[in-house]
Amino acid sequence: MNQRLIVNYEGKPAYDIMLEPDFNMLAEAVSAIEIDNRKLMIITDSNVAMYHLEAVKTALSKNTQTVETIIFPAGEGSKSLDTVSLCYEKLIQSSFDRNDVLVALGGGVVGDLTGFVAATYLRGIRFIQVPTSLLAMVDSSVGGKTGVDFKAYKNMVGAFHQPKLVYMNLSTLLTLPDAEYYSGMGEIIKHGLIKDKVYYAWLKEQAEAIKRRDYDALREMVYRSCLIKRDVVERDPKEQGERALLNYGHTIGHSVEKLKELTLLHGQCVCIGMAAASLLSLNRGFISETEYKDILNTITLFHQPISVNGLSAEDVYAVTKLDKKMDSDKIKFILLKEIGNAFVDPTITKDEMLTAILTILE
Ligand SMILES: NC(=O)c1ccc[n+]([C@@H]2O[C@H](COP(=O)([O-])OP(=O)(O)OC[C@H]3O[C@@H](n4cnc5c(N)ncnc54)[C@H](O)[C@@H]3O)[C@@H](O)[C@H]2O)c1
Ligand SMILES: [Zn+2]
Repeated sequence: MNQRLIVNYEGKPAYDIMLEPDFNMLAEAVSAIEIDNRKLMIITDSNVAMYHLEAVKTALSKNTQTVETIIFPAGEGSKSLDTVSLCYEKLIQSSFDRNDVLVALGGGVVGDLTGFVAATYLRGIRFIQVPTSLLAMVDSSVGGKTGVDFKAYKNMVGAFHQPKLVYMNLSTLLTLPDAEYYSGMGEIIKHGLIKDKVYYAWLKEQAEAIKRRDYDALREMVYRSCLIKRDVVERDPKEQGERALLNYGHTIGHSVEKLKELTLLHGQCVCIGMAAASLLSLNRGFISETEYKDILNTITLFHQPISVNGLSAEDVYAVTKLDKKMDSDKIKFILLKEIGNAFVDPTITKDEMLTAILTILE
């Protein structure tokens, strides 16, 4: 059982998202984008290489004789211009030209970095996403945002560059550590909350199967989340409007992430941020007390935090104000009008923010 989604860009079909149980269809999917006899460079990290590199290399060897690899140390620390530079060196040494293709095999770090190398090497070459983390499958591999961190600044350097194919082997999720898997659930709960109340209810009903990483549950979940992400990025490819809704929970979440200096995973911070944003939605009279509590319970159901220790409300507020996603003095906050329907509210005051932040501090 497999599934496929087409992503349009500028009104035309741009790439397929394939959901598969293994890598058996990879060679055929790659043939369809005219890659035969081009050189392929698989870029991956040390963890993913250990589990999945051989299978991908073997599959792609059916397409071309030249399949090379770059493996860098796993972790956000590698999402840097230094790693980009190493990739350029290796591509030049191996005489990669404009018709050759990169393959991003890994989580969001690999995908963002490889996409950025593809966007910039020789003014842009093609690349394929083979996401292996839950976050990469439902979020970073779809939509064409690529980039790296610069010094302490996350995603400070980047480009929009669409992949030619997104191939998901859902079985790769079986080797993903629990903490990373549940962190990915943060973005998935977010998808339900901002766009689809039926999906949100389904996640709660299917919690046990999702926790077991049951194949059918994974396929349904990744498919529905990709559908939501795809629809949003198709309507707003360059983040000028609706795409902002995907930042639900991210305004306060990002400042928690910065203040905790990356000791918490991204999805965990998003969940803490969603807890605060949901309280604001309650206090503005949009969602009920029961719905608010239900959101907190759902986050907890998937082993994610709704509060954080060791921070002060003023600090969280100050960092939120500095966040690049804010226009001058106004805080553009994403609220829920109801479960399954989010909107941008530019009128949230400092006092309202502080009240919400206090509820997430231990
Ligand atoms: N481009 C976008 O639109 C977008 C959206 C959201 C997040 N991001 C970026 O994504 C990154 C986070 O992505 P992530 O959470 O996937 O992090 P990650 O790439 O660091 O992966 C998390 C960890 O899981 C390991 N891993 C991945 N797949 C595995 C597998 N199948 N088996 C075993 N281990 C595996 C990795 O080696 C790493 O240690 C951040 O840099 C963030 O900025 C980008
Ligand atoms: Zn996120």
